[in-house]
Amino acid sequence: MATTSPLSKNPYRGTRDFFPKDKRLQNYLFSVMKKTAESFAYEPYDGPLLEEVDLYKAKSGEELINEQIYSFVDRGERNVAIRPEMTPTLARMVAQVHREISKPIRWYSIPNLMRYEKPQRGRLREHWQFNCDIFGAPTHLGEIEILNVASSLLKNFGANETHFEILLNDRRVVDGLFKKILQFDETTSYKLYKIIDKAKKVSSEALDKMVSEIILDPHKKSTFMEYLQLNSFNGLFTLLEKNKLQDELTIMKEFLSKLENSEIMKVIVYDPTIVRGLDYYTGLVFEIFDKHPDNRRALCGGGAYANLLQIFKEDPITGMGFGLGDVTLTDFLTTHKLLPDFTKIDLNVIVSYQTDDAYNLAMNLSSRLRQFGLKVETLLGINNFKKVFTMAEKKDVTFVVFIGEDEIKSNQVQIKNLKTKEQKNISINDFEMMKGFLC
Ligand code: HAM
Repeated sequence: MATTSPLSKNPYRGTRDFFPKDKRLQNYLFSVMKKTAESFAYEPYDGPLLEEVDLYKAKSGEELINEQIYSFVDRGERNVAIRPEMTPTLARMVAQVHREISKPIRWYSIPNLMRYEKPQRGRLREHWQFNCDIFGAPTHLGEIEILNVASSLLKNFGANETHFEILLNDRRVVDGLFKKILQFDETTSYKLYKIIDKAKKVSSEALDKMVSEIILDPHKKSTFMEYLQLNSFNGLFTLLEKNKLQDELTIMKEFLSKLENSEIMKVIVYDPTIVRGLDYYTGLVFEIFDKHPDNRRALCGGGAYANLLQIFKEDPITGMGFGLGDVTLTDFLTTHKLLPDFTKIDLNVIVSYQTDDAYNLAMNLSSRLRQFGLKVETLLGINNFKKVFTMAEKKDVTFVVFIGEDEIKSNQVQIKNLKTKEQKNISINDFEMMKGFLC
């Protein structure tokens, strides 16, 4: 008989198994995401795991299609992909209903996405991504709201301005520079966008080499490098003025004037290297970065897109949104020690019995306690006091209930609060008193 090697117990490369403690953490992340989105009046939506590849080909960009997408031909000869991002699905869904619903449309979702990436810190092949998007909002106001939602999310996890910053740019500024001043054609501009996107991840020599291969004119190269070295809004304004990019200057100044004196301005920084890898962005683009030196990476990215609905032959309707991944968020919260402890099961009461006769009583009592909203574990089988205490301690449970022979005789249960050491014998039918003690 041929021997086969045993199957691996590990999950597929770049994906994760979620054991109960991991699931508790995920539930916590999702609950804060939902709470934050809903506090800004965003409504939940969801879409399918599979989409036709054409949906991504239309706007997502070459890197996603050529290198990262999981795609296959289905039994009906359709070329389909596991969703690598949510924005195209969202645009498809908004295209169906936007005529009937009032604007702005505010939607959120937490889909799992798959991208064929080299697994590393902050990058896996499957991740969950919190998406918030707004459609049809007045100019600048939708953008500012989205920045506020993203920043509030991190604050709702306990973060503050010292922990993160929002690096921001505008594609119209880059387009203006490329097309009006440097007079690059579409192909050159596209290549330079990709270089800018990588600018921070490579050495200055490598960057210089990449730029020199594309921009041959030394004067144009120096303008491009001057742009890349900008590090403030004032620097940007000077460059735009010098190059007479009046429209771009007005856009940025108007945007900033709306932010004057706002809380969020404290965390916004101008960064010329933020252009975003996805092709559909047409306006403001941003990434939220961890400020901790051990975790200098983006935990969130987003931007404004004016033309996404056009692929469905719908009128343009402006959109702005962001995606924030669970992997990068967990790294961020761990780095800043903002995560609660999820190693312990979330349980309020352990109900135990010390004689077979008490089995039904223990079951019935547990049911009543669950109706109070308590999380109750009924121990299955007889367990002596010592064992129950050890178990309760291990699980960090506050209350234990004992029903032994004495309790049955006296028609009572014994309840102990392990934290305060308080102990009560309560009549078996006095649920109000139990509630008072336990809740
Ligand atoms: P993205 O920059 O591709 O944008 O992803 C947004 C965030 O998702 C990243 O900042 C990161 O937190 C997380 N993320 C992305 N890829 C991975 C990965 N392989 N492993 C772990 N986390 C990852 C988008 O996807 C846009 N569709 C976001 C958006 C929504 N723009 C407008 N609305």
